Amino acid sequence: MSIQVNERTGVFSLTTAHTLYQMKADSSGVLLHLYYGQKTDEDMSYLVRTADRGFSGNPYEMRNERTYSLDQLPQEYSGSGVGDYRVSAVQVTGANGSRSVDLRFAGVRTEKGRKALPGMPFVRESDETETLIVTLQDKVIGLEAELRYHVFPSQDVIVRSVRLLNRSGQEMVIRKAASACLDFPFGEYDVLHFHGRHCMERIPERMPLPRGVVSFGSRRGMSSHHSNPFVILCERHATEKSGECYGAMMVYSGNHLEEMEVDQVGGVRLVSGIHPDGFAWTLAPGEAFETPEVILSFSAQGLNGLSRQYHDILRQQVIAARWRQPRPVLINSWEAAYFDFDAEKILNFARAAREMGMEMLVLDDGWFGKRDDDSSGLGDWVVNERKLGCSMRELSDRVHEMGMKFGLWFEPEMISEDSDLYRAHPDWALTDPDRKPVMSRNQMVLDMSREDVVDYIYKAMCAVLDEARIEYVKWDFNRSVANVYSHALPANRQGEVAHRFMLGTYRLLERLEARYPDLMIEGCSGGGGRFDAGMLFYCPQIWCSDDTDAVERLEIQRGTSYGYPVSAMGSHVSASPNHQTGRIVSLNTRGIVAQSGTFGIELNPEKLSETEKDSIREQVRAYHRYQELIADGTYYRLTELDENRDYVAWMITSRDGSEALVSLVMTHVRANSPFPYIRLQGLLPGETYQLEGTDRCFTGAALMHGGVAVDQAREDYEAVQLHFVSTRKKG
Ligand code: GLA
Repeated sequence: MSIQVNERTGVFSLTTAHTLYQMKADSSGVLLHLYYGQKTDEDMSYLVRTADRGFSGNPYEMRNERTYSLDQLPQEYSGSGVGDYRVSAVQVTGANGSRSVDLRFAGVRTEKGRKALPGMPFVRESDETETLIVTLQDKVIGLEAELRYHVFPSQDVIVRSVRLLNRSGQEMVIRKAASACLDFPFGEYDVLHFHGRHCMERIPERMPLPRGVVSFGSRRGMSSHHSNPFVILCERHATEKSGECYGAMMVYSGNHLEEMEVDQVGGVRLVSGIHPDGFAWTLAPGEAFETPEVILSFSAQGLNGLSRQYHDILRQQVIAARWRQPRPVLINSWEAAYFDFDAEKILNFARAAREMGMEMLVLDDGWFGKRDDDSSGLGDWVVNERKLGCSMRELSDRVHEMGMKFGLWFEPEMISEDSDLYRAHPDWALTDPDRKPVMSRNQMVLDMSREDVVDYIYKAMCAVLDEARIEYVKWDFNRSVANVYSHALPANRQGEVAHRFMLGTYRLLERLEARYPDLMIEGCSGGGGRFDAGMLFYCPQIWCSDDTDAVERLEIQRGTSYGYPVSAMGSHVSASPNHQTGRIVSLNTRGIVAQSGTFGIELNPEKLSETEKDSIREQVRAYHRYQELIADGTYYRLTELDENRDYVAWMITSRDGSEALVSLVMTHVRANSPFPYIRLQGLLPGETYQLEGTDRCFTGAALMHGGVAVDQAREDYEAVQLHFVSTRKKG
């Protein structure tokens, strides 16, 4: 039993393998947060202390008890306007204009398993999942909040979301509806967040939480390159290997906000949810609003420990089970040809790639409508047979005849000004009335909040997917959303558009998934602008970045690894000099970096020398050999953030500890430099491991405590890969 509701003490306990989460409604009905952290067997309510703090007011019924203040108490879901001055979890305007929300305990129940979140991505139940539902009510305004906690014991994860229900007889407007609020009575925490830009996504930044509020988020209509919907709070001394860390990751791909506040007495609050800027959702009597989910996790095993828990929950309960099998190694046409191709050129790529052992050809942007550059055609999902020189059916058949699968690029949520679709339906784009739209990459954004738009795009995509033999879709999203105005909604409902847009996108993904269960969709958004757990629910992999330079990818993939598994990171070997940075990097290094991801190539194979083709053939073979280990293994960052600027090292260990793949890339060679010693992790101490390609054997204990000097890389950007296999496994 991972959930206990203690009738005598009133304490609700959620227990996972290593953690405990506790709450309790006090005598005033305020749902207090008691504890979240390393497992104890105690009733942790002794942690809640009160004191008379000036300027922290008291609820009316406690007016004679000046030590009792909502401003001080650790809470599960803070209201607003009623004396808690910290960041709030929920804000609502009632029919009379009042903005106060004061939620009090109304009931609790538990459920075996969990229900799906209708219309939104969610963390799928496992055999062990149990659910706690706590109902809070504000009887004055008639608002009910159902707080849901889904417990995943083996992964040390608690998933939270909230359902807000209007139980009054009048309309109310929700202005903020966080998915989770987490209070800590004390703690000197650092926050890690993942910022970035196009071509440099998910760069970790770590800083001590100051007094006051720190917030990260996106108002771009997408989870964004600029701020990933994932934050970590860790102890000041936490490292990759040790220390207590908490994570909060949204299962959502739209606007989001993560707020952290250190209050006047050192308490820490974390609130995570849909970004309230521009958000206003009208609830008629009897209607409910569902927030997206947030995945909470705690580890006392440092940042690597926390990352492993996120990798596991995403691989096991978010990404659909059918994608656990090895996925095809692909060649993508984008950096090989950009918009300049016909069927013959694509078939030549496929042939050359097949000879190197690749399994799928992906035709990127430019195959539809009028689309020879990025100025036109989006929305016109009709095959340009004149450009190709044949039908898509014929092209896909010929690719299949070579023994390869076939994939196609789409950007379903976009519309070019110069497109037949826009000429026919200008009101299908998100545009403000009487105002010129903001343009980006010459395109506008479709109004996915409209059912007719979703339906049209669905049918247009189905027409192509039905005609040709297509096993894969690359689903792109190449601009931030602006002019968030739907011509189908009345003036007072425009604050719903951004979220309704996401619901429309998810609906389209769901409809396609239902019709084509074997179709693999790779997410993409100008590279990694929508790399989030919401998209992973539909897409087992996401293109990590438009920056394909292996050296830049070291930072991008490392930053991504804090929250997301390597099996989800779209990563390809591209040309050198690199198209984004001009950097020259050896094929060996490009291969090793791409192998810590989904692995594929994105270059013109006809420009490769025979030796280079042989090297890629060998890389594909190696990838196939290690594919299961890479996709399913346990990942460790071996170098600390900012600690070592001369090389980056990481490793993946198989679940049974019998095998390990260690990678190191030299980023800065120095004269007379120290040896790069690295200590391995996740091995079995008593086991003997042989280094592949040599007869050298080491015990797991020696490799983990003594380490190895990886000094084979003697030039900038050179890489080394070491494969250790237990001698018992080798037999
Ligand atoms: C985005 C993607 C690229 C490519 C182009 C096509 O930038 O990230 O991989 O598909 O669009 O226009």
